Amino acid sequence: MACTIAIDGPAAAGKGTISKAVAAHFGFAHLDTGLLYRAVGRRVLDGVPPVEAARALRAEDLAADDLRTQEVAQAASEVAVIPEVRAALVDFQRAFARRSGGAVLDGRDIGTIICPEAEVKLFVTASAEVRAQRRFAELTEKGTETDYATVLADVRDRDARDMGRADAPLKPAADAVQIDTSELSIDEAVAEAIAVVNSAK
Ligand code: DC
Repeated sequence: MACTIAIDGPAAAGKGTISKAVAAHFGFAHLDTGLLYRAVGRRVLDGVPPVEAARALRAEDLAADDLRTQEVAQAASEVAVIPEVRAALVDFQRAFARRSGGAVLDGRDIGTIICPEAEVKLFVTASAEVRAQRRFAELTEKGTETDYATVLADVRDRDARDMGRADAPLKPAADAVQIDTSELSIDEAVAEAIAVVNSAK
């Protein structure tokens, strides 16, 4: 039986790490839907019009090695505001969600728009300061020159755009279970997510 787990939340709250761990624990497939928007944003930075880029997206575009930069993240957040871009990405996400054997999808609108019928919905959050601190540490580790204030401003900017857009804004589904990871270690956050899934089974 197909089982869909929807995991939404703002940038750098830990939903990617939690999603991967939950998928591995239950043997489900995992789709990071942010990568779809990042791949579109990447093509737009190369000069392709956003709707054209979204309609022409191919699976191999998701494997590009520079999709994790701050520049691409901002471009992704900008293209994600355009309803035709979102519409072009819906079928791929829903087909993935329905695959047999179970699927975990993480993003911004999975529990609200893409899979409102998901068996389990999680909304993973953390304070903007904690998220910026984590992203800053990640970037510094990778050797990217930046400072905490810039990263915090980026996080706030992306939050405002992702929550404020008219089409599929970031918000918890009415029946989502919220996990605030501000004070949790990765292991504690993953354990909490797995416990929520187990209690829903
Ligand atoms: O999860 P992420 O940081 O990789 O997402 C990048 C951007 O893509 C995010 O700022 C907004 C957009 N996005 C979206 O609008 N809907 C999704 N389901 C996933 C991402």
